[in-house]
Amino acid sequence: MLKNDQLDQWDRENFFHPSTHLAQHARGESPNRVIKTASGVFIEDRDGNKLLDAFAGLYCVNVGYGRQEIAEAIGDQAKELAYYHSYVGHGTEASITLSKMILDRAPANMSKVYFGLGGSDANETNVKLIWYYNNILGRPEKKKIISRWRGYHGSGLVTGSLTGLELFHKKFDLPIEQVIHTEAPYYFRRNNLDQTEEQFVAHCAAELEALIEHEGADTIAAFIGEPVLGTGGIVPPPAGYWAAIQAVLKKHDILLVADEVVTGFGRLGSMFGSDHYGIEADIITIAKGLTSAYAPLSGSIISDKVWKVLEQGTDENGPIGHGWTYSAHPIGAAAGVANLKLIDELNLVQNAGETGAYLNATMAEALSGHANVGDVRGEGMLCAVEFVKDKGSRTFFDSADKIGPQISAKLLEQDKVIARAMPQGDILGFAPPFCLSRAEADQVVAAALRAVQAVLG
Ligand SMILES: Cc1ncc(COP(=O)(O)O)c(C=O)c1O
Repeated sequence: MLKNDQLDQWDRENFFHPSTHLAQHARGESPNRVIKTASGVFIEDRDGNKLLDAFAGLYCVNVGYGRQEIAEAIGDQAKELAYYHSYVGHGTEASITLSKMILDRAPANMSKVYFGLGGSDANETNVKLIWYYNNILGRPEKKKIISRWRGYHGSGLVTGSLTGLELFHKKFDLPIEQVIHTEAPYYFRRNNLDQTEEQFVAHCAAELEALIEHEGADTIAAFIGEPVLGTGGIVPPPAGYWAAIQAVLKKHDILLVADEVVTGFGRLGSMFGSDHYGIEADIITIAKGLTSAYAPLSGSIISDKVWKVLEQGTDENGPIGHGWTYSAHPIGAAAGVANLKLIDELNLVQNAGETGAYLNATMAEALSGHANVGDVRGEGMLCAVEFVKDKGSRTFFDSADKIGPQISAKLLEQDKVIARAMPQGDILGFAPPFCLSRAEADQVVAAALRAVQAVLG
């Protein structure tokens, strides 16, 4: 196929890219890569470069690229019924089937699924429902949401506030006042280096309790957290963290939202991160892995406890005033049904657990001896390598040195492997599709080592 040589110019003149240095891009100072096709764990750009995508897009193409079963399900749905809305009791075979499939896989206390389009709008829905819930229960003051520093929950007004990363707040007048933040469960970055993991967990729980008491428990509606911190650095929680946090929340009658946009549907080697860590959530956020990104779809899985109050609310006030035109879009739902079937048929949750453990073990073996590698960590098909200037004193590099971005650029240039330089800190993140083979994991680890050596010696 002929290359359209105008694409580069059109891109820089017309296209507003998310999470991009806009000025550099418009001036032509940063690369633009036009992706053309993909299969398995590889994507191919229009120049014919084949790249091993060890971040599954944005940790979302969980079943891998090029799955014809999902493409066909989308095509068939588009031909039969491209759209109908889901307001006032309408549904489609795909959306009803998918809600049943999700509930069959979700923790036992879950009751219903509301469908949105992406993780941000799903969390926006969750906050609205939580506010509604407390209004119905006659607790209009109980509205604040606690999130963690380094949490990632989206980039809308409320969800960008929930996100605990500087870049997403700075110059946007965020966070809004109803959102407050507490300590991240990030043992490697603890302030007190003398703390054991157990002491650090006790410290996180104590910080949370102090914040609740300072604000007044009657003003705090909910706590939101990812089972494993994702965009904030790919950080599995220290042992006992979720039990300690849940004890505090229960004591103060605070709802728990498990944001499983990354961890839902198998990334940790369990169907949900909530199962993996014994989290009993009141609401679970799902997106990415629900369709493996073959079509946009997200969801809020609502527990019995919350659902009962929502029903009471509509008995008292009439239909719920919430919905999007594209809620439960049939094409997204058809993609979701085909995706969840494929995950089962190919045993991909198990592979995420097993090959993920292999990836983490081989990565640690190859890199942890390097003088500038401070931490190699992960869970399931999530892995991160964190770089330090000095290991003994755990001194970090100056962010202006851009060590993480340099290493990810080198990885791509030398070995055509995509890993993500996480936005805060010098952290190289890996989140491959679940179909990654051991040979491909070996390729990723060897390339990572070469890139680290090229940049840091
Ligand atoms: C845990 C988590 N929640 C929410 C979101 C936001 O999802 P979206 O980008 O689809 O709006 C993300 C995106 O990366 C995420 O990782």
